[in-house]
Amino acid sequence: MAAAGREIQQELDEATFVAIRRIVFEQSGISLKGDKRTLVAARLGKRMRRLGIPTYRAYLQRLRDCRTGAELTFLLDAISTNVTSFFREADHFDLLRCAYGEWRGKGQTRFRIWCAASSSGEEPYSMGITLHDVGVRGCDVKILGTDISTEILRKAMRARYAKKSIEPVPVLLRDRYFKRLAPDEYEVTPAVRDMVVFRQTNLSKLPTPLKGPLDVVFCRNVMIYFEDALRRRLVEEFERLLKPEGYLVVGHSESLVGMQGGLKMVRPSVYRKGGA
Ligand SMILES: C[S@@+](CC[C@H](N)C(=O)[O-])C[C@H]1O[C@@H](n2cnc3c(N)ncnc32)[C@H](O)[C@@H]1O
Repeated sequence: MAAAGREIQQELDEATFVAIRRIVFEQSGISLKGDKRTLVAARLGKRMRRLGIPTYRAYLQRLRDCRTGAELTFLLDAISTNVTSFFREADHFDLLRCAYGEWRGKGQTRFRIWCAASSSGEEPYSMGITLHDVGVRGCDVKILGTDISTEILRKAMRARYAKKSIEPVPVLLRDRYFKRLAPDEYEVTPAVRDMVVFRQTNLSKLPTPLKGPLDVVFCRNVMIYFEDALRRRLVEEFERLLKPEGYLVVGHSESLVGMQGGLKMVRPSVYRKGGA
C-alpha cells in the first residue's frame, strides 16, 4: 500500500476531471464549471496525500470502488464551499425578527424554521439568537439546520467558534449568547443551542424528508452552485413546505425570476408564499 503523505505525480487531466465532475453533479447537484479544475485539483490533492494516492486517476478508481459511499462523503466535503458567517446579510435577520414578532403578536406559539444549507452553524445560530432575543417564553421554536457535508455538520453541532468569527455579532448579543471557554474559543449558550437541531440533508435529492408547515426557510448562497432545473424543483419544494404567508429567503446575489411559482417577491432575495 502507498505511504500516506506521498507526492502527487500527475496533473488533474480533463477526462478525470469530467468524471469527477459528473459524480459530484449526480450526487449533490453542484455544477462544477471548467474553471474549477484547479480548485478541485487542490482540494482533492489534500485528500489524496492523506490516503497516499499518487494520481487523480487512481483516486477516481478508489471513489468508484468504494461500496460504502464513505469516499463520496469525503469528496463532497472537499468540494463544498462552506463560507459563512454570523449575521451574514444582516437585513434577513431583521426580517426574521419582525415576522416572528408579528406572528407572536397574533398569538402564534409554534414556530418551525429551516436553514437549508447551514454550513458550520453560524447562520442557524444567528437565527436562534435573533428569536431568543425577541423572546421565546411560552413558545415552541425549532430551527432545523441541514447541510450535505458531514464534516461541517460536526463543526456546527460543536457550536464553538474563534473570537474572529463572532465579531459580526452585535456586542450585546455576543455577551448574552456566547460563553468564553478559552482566549480564542467561544461557545453558543445552551439556550440557543437547544433551539437548533442539525441533520444531514441533500438538497439535490427531492422531495426532502421534511414535513411542513414551515414559517421561514433560509436557503442562502447554495443554489448558486446548482443548475436551473434543480433550483426550480427546490423552490417548488420550499413552496410545498411553507405555510401560507411563510417566507423564503435566498442570498442577496440570487434571484428566482421565472421560477418562483406561488411565491411572491417581497423585496430582492425575500419571497412570501401567497404574499402581496
Ligand atoms: C457557501 S455555504 C452557504 C452557507 C450559508 N447558507 C450562508 O449563506 O452563509 C454553502 C453550503 O451549502 C452546502 N451544500 C452544497 N451542496 C449541497 C446540497 N446538495 N445539499 C445540501 N447542502 C449543500 C455546502 O456544504 C455549504 O455548507
